[in-house]
Amino acid sequence: MSSHGDPIPMTSAACGPLTGVAEVPGDKSISHRSLILGAMCIGETTIAGLLEGQDVLDTAKAMRAFGAEVSDLGGGNWSVRGVGVGGFAEPDGVIDCGNSGTGVRLIMGAMATSPIVATFTGDASLNGRPMARVTDPLALFGCQAVGRTGGRLPMTLVGAVEPVPVRYVVPVPSAQVKSAVLLAGLNAPGQTVVIEAEATRDHTERMLAGFGAEISVQETEEGREITLTGQPELRAQQIEVPRDPSSAAFPVCAALIVPGSDVLVPGIGLNPTRAGLFTTLREMGADLAYENAREEGGEPVADLRAKFSPGLKGIEVPPERAASMIDEYPVLSVVAAFAEGQTVMRGVKELRVKESDRIDAMATGLRANGVEVEDGPDWWIVNGLGHGNVPGGAVCASHLDHRIAMSFLILGMAANAPVKVDDGGPIATSFPIFEPLMGALGAQVSRDRA
Ligand code: S3P
Repeated sequence: MSSHGDPIPMTSAACGPLTGVAEVPGDKSISHRSLILGAMCIGETTIAGLLEGQDVLDTAKAMRAFGAEVSDLGGGNWSVRGVGVGGFAEPDGVIDCGNSGTGVRLIMGAMATSPIVATFTGDASLNGRPMARVTDPLALFGCQAVGRTGGRLPMTLVGAVEPVPVRYVVPVPSAQVKSAVLLAGLNAPGQTVVIEAEATRDHTERMLAGFGAEISVQETEEGREITLTGQPELRAQQIEVPRDPSSAAFPVCAALIVPGSDVLVPGIGLNPTRAGLFTTLREMGADLAYENAREEGGEPVADLRAKFSPGLKGIEVPPERAASMIDEYPVLSVVAAFAEGQTVMRGVKELRVKESDRIDAMATGLRANGVEVEDGPDWWIVNGLGHGNVPGGAVCASHLDHRIAMSFLILGMAANAPVKVDDGGPIATSFPIFEPLMGALGAQVSRDRA
């Protein structure tokens, strides 16, 4: 079932060359953080290019419930009048974060050090995902949480009345956990220290500095050590959200596997903690260029030009790169099916606790489409068949996971027989214009009649 309504079965069939300009929406991670940090300062933060996907709209609604004034000004422009650090009001009702792990985990962090109580829930996917990874460190601040067995939503958090700062070594590579701890640290007196063994996306650190917090990062033997001084007065900002590299991945990968394609994807955020897929694709022999590299709003940005790449080769993806492309493994596995030889992906246990078990979802669907896949607890291998040799023809389950649905629709664009997904509804969480955007490039993606 779709996260919001009835399932939307979709089909993608082989098409002529994909050509043109693909203007993908704003970055999801930065969009969530813009709303949450905007709600935690005094004054008006303006946001241009906000992703208006369901995940982010759910976060906007949540920020209103905690007392911020959030307005949609039209054309991707939004305004947030915040309540200040420690100023969150207690919500009247349950906070429904829909499909969004980032939304719920960051908001839990943001409210954990305020003397309020809030209950969180989500859709069937989110209510199955682990929350103890966030509530364990939040307990160190003095926040209590009661949820379902296994630390699942729905869950109620009782914010700390007298929060204390913490020092926390993040046990899994997760920007959501790191960010939850930092946001909680905002309303704790003194210094909160977060250490991550592997660098994950650093938008929270960059944006906290931009909002005027005292925050520093040091490389130590334990890893990246981030020190935040609590109870700052955050200053309202004017934010321009770069376009999402995780969404850009779909038209880029489609162009690489559809013969004759040449697609320009402008204005993509290329923060090194996010750009691992593009490095990997180039190592596989992709004709993928960065044009007009520049900086916008404190983030590196470039225009990506992707062309059909007939000579793709399977590679071993370095495990230390995993965090910088964690959301892109599903679509990489599709490109790998069209490459010659094996693509080996190791050190990716986290893929099993995303919106779905992404290794299982992709391996099952790829096998049904005639591609051989091997997998283990934290690794998987796709045995590439080369261009023109991927059978396709199967119906794939999207498991309430936008990236699984989009990945299989990309597969259908270059497979020998059309590929179906049982539900394209979740695509609206992160990439609401996926269908018209891919259609305008020349793709044959359609909704099936009931
Ligand atoms: C995100 C962090 C990642 C990523 C998610 C967005 C973020 O999750 O998969 O799509 O915005 O912080 P984890 O923190 O679970 O790795």
